[in-house]
Amino acid sequence: MTNKKPRNMQNRTIKRSGIALAAVALVLNSGCYSGGNNPGIEYSPNMYVSEAYEAYTQTGEMEHNPYGMTMREPVPGTVAQGQLGYLGYPEGYEASATWSNPLAPTHANVDAGMVLYNRNCQHCHGMKGKNDGGVIKSGQYPPPPWSGYDDAYIKSLPDGKVFHTITHGKGNMGSHASVLTPAQRWQVVWYVRSLSLGDAFQYAEEGAAAPVATSNDIVSAKPAWLTGFEFADVDATEYRTIWGAMQNVKFDNIRYRKMKDDSKPYLDQVATYLTNHPELKAVVVGHISSDTDAGAIQDGLSEIRAKAVCDYLTEKGIDGGRLSAKGAGADHPIASNDTKEGREQNRRVEIYFVK
Ligand code: HEC
Repeated sequence: MTNKKPRNMQNRTIKRSGIALAAVALVLNSGCYSGGNNPGIEYSPNMYVSEAYEAYTQTGEMEHNPYGMTMREPVPGTVAQGQLGYLGYPEGYEASATWSNPLAPTHANVDAGMVLYNRNCQHCHGMKGKNDGGVIKSGQYPPPPWSGYDDAYIKSLPDGKVFHTITHGKGNMGSHASVLTPAQRWQVVWYVRSLSLGDAFQYAEEGAAAPVATSNDIVSAKPAWLTGFEFADVDATEYRTIWGAMQNVKFDNIRYRKMKDDSKPYLDQVATYLTNHPELKAVVVGHISSDTDAGAIQDGLSEIRAKAVCDYLTEKGIDGGRLSAKGAGADHPIASNDTKEGREQNRRVEIYFVK
């Protein structure tokens, strides 16, 4: 037995005594001033001073806080249930090139992706991915720097980067992480891919496992302009890793023939790959953006850069006879040359494996 009165009775007592005091105060006409540090009379204090249920603070035991255990910090290194993060993915836009879609492109997944796309994406990118959604058409929002999902840029964009962009946003596109779970994002990635490839998109049987091979067509990228070679068929997942590594190969802007030092670990991956695949030869192709000054283009800058990559691979023990360097100049952009980001993407060195 407790001798405390139930809560509501306590309140009533306070209220009653409040009314009584107010009456006394009126009779004495004493005004509000009560001098010094006296805070004066507080009527119905529990209307003003609530019991604070603050996270991460320890308060005494009470009805809602048995044993005095208010919410605690999570155990370090754990992930709360329902928190869907990056688990298992290396971080960063460039690194995302190597992530592959864990879902199979079944009709169920692609159709689910379509519903989510129509809800979250079509008002900018358009029903068919032509960047003609209402928001873009209104002229109030800057359009993406490529024409639509059938643009060569999106066709060769790794699925992982699409996933990364949906998760984190990119440029003028915001993050959709709060409206799509990771699994839903991967379904949307398949739908984007189906819009991008059109009739060439291949569905998987219901119940099929996720493809071991890549789900985008980088791997089958055997560009028609690269003539005089017989392309080799390589493992899609491995090639995608190599392709992603090559995207980190950058050159100095000022002494622009000089490869940046942080490119080297990525080229080391390529060297290891070539060492493990003695049956393959590689064609290294340099590309520059169209704003590069005419002198540099005539100078063969794109080929000089491709050669620098070959030289480094030779240094790492790859027989020079297996490597060819080609300069493609500014003839094969993958993004618009009108924006800084587009030009940055166009300045690149690619690698193709041949027999
Ligand atoms: C408010 C308009 C808007 C919405 C909504 C929107 N996007 Fe975008 N999206 C853009 C713009 C603008 C870009 C260009 C970003 C850049 O490169 O600066 C872009 C870029 C992209 C890219 C290219 C990413 C890359 O790596 O270069 C993909 C793929 C894409 N969006 C897919 C989607 C999908 C899928 C959704 C829905 C989940 C979506 N977008 C929703 C405006 C939008």
